[in-house]
Amino acid sequence: MKPFVYITRKLPEEVVTPLREKYEVKMWDKEDVIVPRTVLLEEASKADALLTMLSDQIDEELLSAGEQLKVVANLAVGYDNIDIEAATKRGVTICNTPDVLTDSTADLTFGLLMAAARRIVEGAEFIKAGQWKSWSPLLLAGYDIHHKTIGIVGMGSIGSTVAKRATGFDMEILYHNRSRKMEVESELGATYCSFDELVERSDFIVCLTPLTAETKDLFTRDVFKRMKKTAVFVNASRGPVVNEQELYEALKEGDIAAAGLDVFDKEPIDETHPLLTLSNVVAIPHIGSASIETRMKMMNLCVENIDLILSGQEPKTHVNK
Ligand code: DGY
Repeated sequence: MKPFVYITRKLPEEVVTPLREKYEVKMWDKEDVIVPRTVLLEEASKADALLTMLSDQIDEELLSAGEQLKVVANLAVGYDNIDIEAATKRGVTICNTPDVLTDSTADLTFGLLMAAARRIVEGAEFIKAGQWKSWSPLLLAGYDIHHKTIGIVGMGSIGSTVAKRATGFDMEILYHNRSRKMEVESELGATYCSFDELVERSDFIVCLTPLTAETKDLFTRDVFKRMKKTAVFVNASRGPVVNEQELYEALKEGDIAAAGLDVFDKEPIDETHPLLTLSNVVAIPHIGSASIETRMKMMNLCVENIDLILSGQEPKTHVNK
């Protein structure tokens, strides 16, 4: 019997073809609907490999249902949706998609920063609503980006690629990370500082830290209050790193100027969420890595990793080695 691969979302057929040639492959048939939990549990109980999305919870229950599971290839660099400890205990290999998405995610993060600072989305909505009556000196005036200070929380490869973008805008770069990154200091002139100092000194605070027990609720009202009143906050990591209710209060009360958000506590965010009522929020639906080229590379990497594991080889990107 051929090994069974279950894919939790409808992917382009050309991506899946190499797997179909060697394995029995089944795919959830919807592009934009999460596979129901009961279906996922049922398919996992028969699967040798799963190709999952960041919206699938790969927890103890799922892993114990997957008695013959050898690999979970997650279509994301982040893997906070997976219980790594439980997978490791069971000998299940977890793979993610780093590197291939670094530049695209950094581009989007910087774009979000620019959109929030220069009120680009507000401007686009304004003109489409027929509100533009005349050119005027302070119409939709935002904040400059060039020659300002950017503070990056989480200096992994996406963080350092955002820092590289910032050098093109002549920005001073501060960063906070678990460990110092000597190469970003020497190559990009970035300065390591404490979280508190970064928060107080930066004009743009960009959150790119992974979601862990330590980073959950890292950004609270108290932290926003310590930022400059003109600060722009950008989150392109994971929603739960920010206390959303307190971010809402900070934006509403003017503790900070604006926010650009690609990620939310609960995704998809409810359209009635208070944050979405604020004109100083640019909100986008977790599309950090969503360029066609990059998403194809991510899908192909997952497919390659599954094939490598099922043929007894080491995968390209192994989270729990
Ligand atoms: C990831 O890969 O973790 C990103 O959040 C996807 O855009």
